[in-house]
Amino acid sequence: MKPLIVPALLSVLTVAAPSVVLAQDLAAGKKVFRRCNACHTLEEGGTNKVGPNLWNIFGSTAGTRTNGFKYSKALKSSGIIWDDSTMSAYLENPRGTVPKTRMSFIGLKKADQRDAVINYLRSATR
Ligand code: HEC
Repeated sequence: MKPLIVPALLSVLTVAAPSVVLAQDLAAGKKVFRRCNACHTLEEGGTNKVGPNLWNIFGSTAGTRTNGFKYSKALKSSGIIWDDSTMSAYLENPRGTVPKTRMSFIGLKKADQRDAVINYLRSATR
């Protein structure tokens, strides 16, 4: 009996582990997002604040979603398509990545914070 129970237990553990990691990561990302939420909402139909609502942000071209927000010329003409790596660069150093962007945010210098907030955004914006 034992040899059967052990593999079953192992497979339960390997299935459970990634979702545990994901949940921790989402919590970490949600915490990092406190630095954004003065200016951004995430939910569908959410209001624009100082910055635009971010629903459906991934895969869109920067500054082009039709959400009523008045984007800077700089962001609109950047040609950036939002994915993990373009988002990470912009969040690390907004004005270094898009000179003259109106997002006045100093940047997230820590890669793990950027990764966490990007994961959180992915789950909360679609
Ligand atoms: C002080 C307000 C402010 C803070 C804080 C801020 N943003 Fe922004 N954000 C803006 C503004 C304003 C824009 C529009 C920039 C432009 O038009 O050049 C913007 C644009 C963006 C865009 C591009 C939107 C699009 O439609 O292309 C993303 C993504 C974004 N912000 C994510 C974040 C994240 C994530 C954080 C936190 C880590 C954050 N922002 C913090 C104000 C802010």
